[in-house]
Amino acid sequence: MSKAQYIIALDQGTTSTRCIIFNQKGEAVATSRREFAQHYPELGWVEHNPEDIWNDTVFTIRTAMSEAKLDSDPSSIAAIGITNQRETVVLWDKATGKPLYNAIVWQDRRTSAVCHKLKADGLEKTVHEKTGLLLDPYFSATKLAWLLDNVADARIAAQRGELAFGTIDSFLLWRLTGGKVHATDATNASRTLLFNIKTQSWDPELLKLFNIPEELLPEVKDNSTLFGTTDPNLFGTSIPIMGMAGDQQAALIGQACFTPGMTKATYGTGCFMLLNTGDQMVISKNRMLTTTAYRLNGKPTYALEGSIFVAGAAIKWLRDGLGIITHASQTHDMATQVSDNHQVYMVPAFVGLGAPHWAPDARAIISGLTLNATAAHLARAALESIAYQTNDLAEAMKKDSGNDILTTRVDGGMSANDWFCQFLASIMNITVERPSYIETTAMGAAYLAGMGSGIWNNLSDVAHHWRQGASFISHMKEPERNKKLKGWQFALKQALLQEE
Ligand code: G3P
Repeated sequence: MSKAQYIIALDQGTTSTRCIIFNQKGEAVATSRREFAQHYPELGWVEHNPEDIWNDTVFTIRTAMSEAKLDSDPSSIAAIGITNQRETVVLWDKATGKPLYNAIVWQDRRTSAVCHKLKADGLEKTVHEKTGLLLDPYFSATKLAWLLDNVADARIAAQRGELAFGTIDSFLLWRLTGGKVHATDATNASRTLLFNIKTQSWDPELLKLFNIPEELLPEVKDNSTLFGTTDPNLFGTSIPIMGMAGDQQAALIGQACFTPGMTKATYGTGCFMLLNTGDQMVISKNRMLTTTAYRLNGKPTYALEGSIFVAGAAIKWLRDGLGIITHASQTHDMATQVSDNHQVYMVPAFVGLGAPHWAPDARAIISGLTLNATAAHLARAALESIAYQTNDLAEAMKKDSGNDILTTRVDGGMSANDWFCQFLASIMNITVERPSYIETTAMGAAYLAGMGSGIWNNLSDVAHHWRQGASFISHMKEPERNKKLKGWQFALKQALLQEE
């Protein structure tokens, strides 16, 4: 029997579930990935079938184990780390493990009116001070309340203690442990609007405000600790689950942004930029979020976060909605085919706009079209829009932190696109650093699990594994940058008109 030396990282994202197995050097040795169905039952609603997520979790873990030839030697797996799309809500029956309804996804806008009402009642300040978040349908609490109020008998069953609520991490932990553990971690809890990030505990005042029975809530644990062990029937042995974090926090860890002032931007379905603020819980004056970056040995580290709801999703729309590409990587060549954006701007507010606007009812627009505009201009406008939005986040963060941002580390699918990284560096006038391995979200989950199981000792041990792959610096002159940013601001105003 070999010594336990591999870590399984499960990255359950918004559009796909991935399993990556890492060795002790932090190198990926096997990968398995599956895209799953998105459901849009009504305008602005986004749902996932939790059974799809569960089946893909088991499938991708088994497939990656087999690719790494670990299925015949599962005892060489030291631990599992879980990372996940955050805020998405599942409500399930504790006796059967069956969800009562589809998962309501973070992008879902069905509770927009509830949030507007709470804001009008003057409750945002209290919520912001306690949770670091704002009153937006993005977060879990109003979605959970919707489930309790709209699924027959759910509220009564919840009060009887028969149901469990969780974000995806918590639901998967429950299933992986065969219904033995109902827990989450401090980063995922921080996204619910129910968790006080100062006291690091569920907040009774917030539970009352959102009308959520305490009986539903999972236990909140540190990010690197024993969460439970897998049901031996699943993977041939019981594997300890030693790490867990929301995907954006996991990416911050995978990018080794451990020093206050360091930033990373992850380009998945959305884009989320996090600035490490150390033990300082900086409350934003510029509509950024404050969130738990990680909690180790009971000690929280905080981050400022800017959340963009649509990044890779805009490219997916070019592929699945418009049909002008068959693969995301084509956008690179299309963007370079045209000499400039031809004044074509896309504001990808497909599910409203996140930071710093928080406009759930804004909708996407493409402006500046002339008869000369081509598919290449649309592809370029989509890529540019993600860079403009990242720049807007950085500007707000600079004001909040009082410091300049000179460098940011990028990761996730779109960061593989050199044209995009170059444009980002130019429009932000900063250095953009891309690591040699861009699946840093999974990497972060692996580090947490690896620290928990003793493969790595601590964060500085982990930081040694970070390798720069490429770096991009600005090639754009100030007047050109200003002209582009002005065009973006003009388009943005038009998208925001629908919010008013
Ligand atoms: O907050 C939502 C975020 O966790 C989703 O991440 O990677 O699916 O875009 P991603």
